[in-house]
Amino acid sequence: MIRTQVAIVGAGPAGLMLSHLLHRAGVASIVLEARSRGYVEGRVRAGVLEQGTVDLLKQSGVGERLAREGLVHDAVELRFQGRGHRIELSRLARGRTITVYGQQEVVKDLVRARLEAGGDIRFEFTDIALHEVATSRPRVTGRMQGESVEIACDFIAGCDGSHGICREAVPRSQRAVHERAYPFAWLGILARAAPSRDHLVYAHHDRGFALFSMRSPTLTRLYLQVAPDEELSAWPDERVWDELEARFEGEDGWRPARGAVIEKSVTGMRSLVVEPMRHGRLLLAGDAAHVVPPTGAKGLNLAMADVRVLAAALASFYSGEGESALDAYSATALERVWRAQHFSWWMTALLHRFPEGDSFQRRLQHAQLEYVVSSEAARASFAENYVGLPFEAP
Ligand code: APR
Ligand code: PHB
Repeated sequence: MIRTQVAIVGAGPAGLMLSHLLHRAGVASIVLEARSRGYVEGRVRAGVLEQGTVDLLKQSGVGERLAREGLVHDAVELRFQGRGHRIELSRLARGRTITVYGQQEVVKDLVRARLEAGGDIRFEFTDIALHEVATSRPRVTGRMQGESVEIACDFIAGCDGSHGICREAVPRSQRAVHERAYPFAWLGILARAAPSRDHLVYAHHDRGFALFSMRSPTLTRLYLQVAPDEELSAWPDERVWDELEARFEGEDGWRPARGAVIEKSVTGMRSLVVEPMRHGRLLLAGDAAHVVPPTGAKGLNLAMADVRVLAAALASFYSGEGESALDAYSATALERVWRAQHFSWWMTALLHRFPEGDSFQRRLQHAQLEYVVSSEAARASFAENYVGLPFEAP
């Protein structure tokens, strides 16, 4: 039997950052992760960091490589009906920008920081079960290297992502689940090609949505809207590039530079919120509590915003200030979550082709897109949401 203050399930950005912030506040934790370190660090995920996420990583001492290698972007492009429209970010959003830096790079930096500080991350920890979460003595059991392990703790942080088990530990009668499914998915590729534009391009086209992004000066990241049950085998590289070119077509003649495809996968899209984010001594954070479609690039950023509030609430508990900050955690986090849910849903509805959509719906999308790019007020609203609302004092 092992004892710690906070047992954290999941070594994604949420679990690792929580462990890091708790360590800085003098609170002990153990991170339990089902997968291997190599798997977690190699998984290609999102890559856009909001200003608040960048600031948090830097201020907490894990932003050194991010400062060197992150690509700061001061604009994004919305492209539709053959024309691209650049939306400035910092001028419209009070100096705030986004930074392109792969989620797995954030994960690598956090794993390294935790291990260098003597942190306890247990990879390949399987068969996790939570016990007595509604009491003040919760426990986590599981298996590691063939042995049963039991961890006694004060709190369990459920940071186990969208397919985790922690949210199921909240009794059905005490949890509300709000959900939207979308009739499409994204096919993503990572290509060895120098990005042929210095900002992200979100394209709305009659053939469907496409997104141009990047990871580094030599790696381009691209996405195509596809059917939710799309088979990867139907998309040889040539077809992906041809389809991307068709959807990015425009009078300026711009197209993404082609290169060797080194990763290809299909990601489903949905919106989901579990409320509340606390049940007794179980606290949910990140994708374990809420999932957004990737269109607004909010998933990783919401995870960071959650654990910032949660770490401060736990630190306040351990410094003898009682449970008031923990009591406020769910409502505080959910306010931001719902703002980001709306923006992600809105951007998804604006930019994708809906299979059942008629000409009326397409005209509405065009009208809204025209408004967003032509009105200073609408551009500013877009920019403010895209770079992320400032964090309030926790
Ligand atoms: N036991 C242990 N670990 C688990 C279990 C389990 N039963 N189930 C899932 N995990 C692990 C996963 O292997 C993963 O490493 O939990 C981790 C969850 O990490 P993420 O899915 O990355 O979720 P989160 O940390 O909340 O990060 C937020 O932002 O870009 C978005 O959705 C994207 O991952 C992203 C997220
Ligand atoms: C990415 O670079 O992976 C990316 C960028 C913007 C998004 C989603 C994903 O909206």
